[in-house]
Amino acid sequence: MNAHTEATDDRHATALVIGGTGGIGAAIADALRGPDAPARNVIATSRRGSDAVDICDEASVAALASRLKSLSGDLTLVIDATGFLHDETFTPEKTWRHIDPAHMAHAFAVNAIGPALLMKHLLPLLPAQGRSVFATLSARVGSIGDNRLGGWTSYRASKAALNQIVRTTAIELHRRKPDAICVALHPGTVATDLSAPFSTDGLDVRDPDTAAEDLLSVIKGLQPSDNGGFLDHNGAYIPW
Ligand SMILES: NC(=O)c1ccc[n+]([C@@H]2O[C@H](COP(=O)([O-])OP(=O)(O)OC[C@H]3O[C@@H](n4cnc5c(N)ncnc54)[C@H](OP(=O)(O)O)[C@@H]3O)[C@@H](O)[C@H]2O)c1
Repeated sequence: MNAHTEATDDRHATALVIGGTGGIGAAIADALRGPDAPARNVIATSRRGSDAVDICDEASVAALASRLKSLSGDLTLVIDATGFLHDETFTPEKTWRHIDPAHMAHAFAVNAIGPALLMKHLLPLLPAQGRSVFATLSARVGSIGDNRLGGWTSYRASKAALNQIVRTTAIELHRRKPDAICVALHPGTVATDLSAPFSTDGLDVRDPDTAAEDLLSVIKGLQPSDNGGFLDHNGAYIPW
């Protein structure tokens, strides 16, 4: 039995991965569907196709929730593996001189507001009783207490906002569904398109499959007392 099996042990439940086209999201979906995983319904969303989910478009998130409501079996695992650091237009800021309102707004839209919309529409679908997990991928650089280098203002600030959204939402979730767990997870530095331009020598860069195994192992070990937490891929708490 491999490390993540217990996190996926309910054979009639649904696991949902948002951002299934991403480096980490695809690896998580593969691991959940792997030969060692028990039979279960694994859904991985993308921004393409007729059932596209764009987390910045609330109507598409609401449509996803509607589709999930019609499935048999509980939604017991949601992993939000979406995120934005750079694209063809925006590069992480090296100085305050690079701050650009459009860049900052886009980072907040994808990294903070989008995940908040996922929580708004998907947390109500978690079972009222029994263990369930909503995990969103944050980043250690979103930690304010751990910030010693500066730079990357939009990414850091949007992930810090995400962490606050997780914490705030987790408190409400506990009142409604005491067995449910909502956390922010740092995957470590992982070899994906997101990290590629910044993966310099000396960094501990892990492959997506290893990162997925680590994250699923952390999810497996989460307790109700971890609700609202910010943890890394080893299950260690990160300062806010
Ligand atoms: N890789 C790392 O070293 C590292 C380190 C720390 C934290 N993280 C975090 O881990 C998460 C996953 O990162 P990754 O490395 O796997 O990145 P990635 O390979 O670039 O994947 C990002 C995913 O987010 C999706 N996405 C972006 N905007 C979206 C939107 N508006 N609606 C729906 N999906 C959207 C992308 O979809 P498309 O394919 O359609 O673009 C893609 O599936 C991110 O939150 C990132 O901040 C990564």
